[in-house]
Amino acid sequence: MRKGFLAVSAVGLLALGSLTACGDDSGDQAGGGSGKTPKIGVILPDSSSSVRWESADRKFLGEAFKAAGIEAIIQNAQGDKNAFQTLADQMITNGVTVLMIVNLDSGTGKAVLDKAKSQGVATIDYDRLTLGGSAEYYVSFDNVAVGKLQGEGLVKCLTDAKAEKPAIAYLNGSPTDNNATLFKEGYDSVLKPKFDSGEYTKAADDSVPDWDNTQAATIFEQQLTKTGGKIDGVLSANDGLGNAAISVLKKNNLNGKVPVTGQDADPQALQNILAGDQCMTVYKAVKKEADAAAELAIALAKGERKETGQTVRDPEGNRDVPAVLLTPAAIYKENVKDVIADGYVTKEQICTGDYAKLCTDAGIS
Ligand code: BGC
Repeated sequence: MRKGFLAVSAVGLLALGSLTACGDDSGDQAGGGSGKTPKIGVILPDSSSSVRWESADRKFLGEAFKAAGIEAIIQNAQGDKNAFQTLADQMITNGVTVLMIVNLDSGTGKAVLDKAKSQGVATIDYDRLTLGGSAEYYVSFDNVAVGKLQGEGLVKCLTDAKAEKPAIAYLNGSPTDNNATLFKEGYDSVLKPKFDSGEYTKAADDSVPDWDNTQAATIFEQQLTKTGGKIDGVLSANDGLGNAAISVLKKNNLNGKVPVTGQDADPQALQNILAGDQCMTVYKAVKKEADAAAELAIALAKGERKETGQTVRDPEGNRDVPAVLLTPAAIYKENVKDVIADGYVTKEQICTGDYAKLCTDAGIS
């Protein structure tokens, strides 16, 4: 496990190291070289669909800009599309030279990106690709790979539990988030062949609007009712949705018996894994994502262009967007310790109260 984890880190570093400066510094592109002082605006999506945005992304982006001595404004739209647009307008008025966004949906994301561009402000899609958008760069993880790890994780936990012909429920992410589509593509690639062969059955398949954790609990409750309690595994697209399912399983004394997947390595999810209530999560080293995005933003702000060595196809805009895609890692009970060793969460956050013994058992010292 440890070995694999380190290998993943090395891939991440490689990806970063491959951002090389390109010759053209002419400064005639949006946001760059116009003699303006570099100033970067970042709009995060919310603070409830995942704790990562406030606890990891804000922190690591802030640190990266600070280390480079670049002024940055980081705001959170709190799930409100109007607020998202207002924040973008304010940032442009305040003279940002580069705008980085995590869109709430492609429609409003595109409007914001296009407006920024028309005002000479360069843009970056951070974590979520804006379909039909106009960002100069896209920085994220390989999101199909994230979904594959979730599918494989669920299969591993069901196999370990010797489940026979398990009935699977899907709790997909927000239908307005392109990442949710990619995650599903990944886990479908693992699970669909099993549905087709009759090895597994699909009991339910629902998307959770805006990744809303409260709605996720209601949706999962309905899935459980609809199937007469016959759900043997939950493919949940992130930790918040997974925790919602676990809360419902707990009420029905089914927690620990039904494997649940996740994503983000939230402190709560890591505790769920240690307790045996969650099968796995997917760790995305947000520091690497933030560092890569900050590096590109700073280059754009200085009127430089960097080669990312990779592109991602935007099927709606029919264009190849220069991209940095980092490698995610699967986390099970045995390697929760690696997320702590990587500095993403602290032992103090995880090993509280009853979790102290579970931490010791899982080799967290
Ligand atoms: C991100 C996930 C996050 C989810 C909900 C996705 O776009 O990639 O890390 O859990 O949004 O905020």
